[in-house]
Amino acid sequence: MSILVTGGAGYIGSHTVVELIGAGYSTVVVDNLCNSSPECLKRVEELTGQKIKFYEADIRDRKAMDRIFEENSIDSVIHFAGLKAVGESTQKPIEYYDNNIGGTLTLVESMRAHGVKNIVFSSSATVYGSPAFVPITEECPKGVCTNPYGWTKSMLEQILTDVQKADNEWNVILLRYFNPIGAHKSGRIGENPNGIPNNLMPYITQVAVGKLEHLNVFGNDYKTHDGTGVRDYIHVVDLAIGHVKAIEKLKENPGTKVYNLGTGNGYSVLDIVSAFEKANGVKIPYVIGPRRPGDIDECYADASKAKKELGWTAQYGIEDMCRDSWKWQSQNPNGFEK
Ligand code: NAD
Ligand code: WQD
Repeated sequence: MSILVTGGAGYIGSHTVVELIGAGYSTVVVDNLCNSSPECLKRVEELTGQKIKFYEADIRDRKAMDRIFEENSIDSVIHFAGLKAVGESTQKPIEYYDNNIGGTLTLVESMRAHGVKNIVFSSSATVYGSPAFVPITEECPKGVCTNPYGWTKSMLEQILTDVQKADNEWNVILLRYFNPIGAHKSGRIGENPNGIPNNLMPYITQVAVGKLEHLNVFGNDYKTHDGTGVRDYIHVVDLAIGHVKAIEKLKENPGTKVYNLGTGNGYSVLDIVSAFEKANGVKIPYVIGPRRPGDIDECYADASKAKKELGWTAQYGIEDMCRDSWKWQSQNPNGFEK
């Protein structure tokens, strides 16, 4: 029996494939490579010593999805495939709804047709909108998203919850990630954004490697200890291990379960700059600029439910995250391009 990993050539998916194989699972990957490279899967093979069964296909392609379920004995699906650029989603809402929602509907139709009813879904802390309280527990009400990307996550949580309600043979786990950063300790796989990065850590590492001149800090008048935005950064390997734990939990009792995957620690933008400088001995010049529209003051998890029910806690600290992000970027200044 295998686990189908959609979006398995991407940042979080590739790290999860490594951890799944390490835990003894067999995997099948489907990815249309719209935001990833086949080189990433080659490196996953190098790290795991195993050949990865890979389908280059779009999850919106029903025939291709059916073929995958027919040719493989799939037990569960971990569903990462999706578009994720917040800013771009405000410019291309139709493409985002089509890809993320249309893609998931086709995936679950194909799953149902083949009697596969176990799914772990990549959701996001973005569904809390401007959170009603911090640290954020899973009971915190979902909020108003500030962009179409966030709405796709919020709507897909509802869609999967409804699918499970209608047929209680389904087992659904919704994982709400906080801010994933870091990379595999080998430095062989990591985040590989197209163009100028939107997210803080890849921006910092590109400043460190000399591709960008300085970091623009988006606002220093937030209600936080130093005025810059506070987030819960989590090492991507911890996140990947969280998926292995979710797979173990999936079939324990049918239903829809939701877990925050964060460390519970909040760090400001300037905390991250100093942690990065300290961990790596590299200076990060920065300029304070205006706020970025849609940003919130602070967002960090209460991750005690995942600890209690999944037996999962983040192991890596901020220094590890900064060190591993830098190792990946400095060894691969152009990402997976040679
Ligand atoms: P990523 O872009 O690196 O990985 C997503 C993968 O999905 C890519 O390899 C892409 O080529 C593939 N893909 C996209 N649309 C597809 C389609 N229609 N058919 C087949 N493959 C398709 O992103 P990531 O950071 O690894 O994120 C994985 C998931 O986690 C996404 O759903 C994302 O929204 C979610 N998430 C990410 C973050 C984050 O900050 N990185 C935070 C919360 C949630
Ligand atoms: C972190 C902090 C910025 C870049 C996003 C998505 C969220 C989730 C994770 C998918 C903020 C500041 C950033 C820069 C800066 N993704 N910053 N200069 O916005 O918390 O979350 O990624 O689900 O949905 O919204 O992450 O890394 O963009 O920003 O000052 O160049 O860094 O203002 O305080 P964010 P981020």
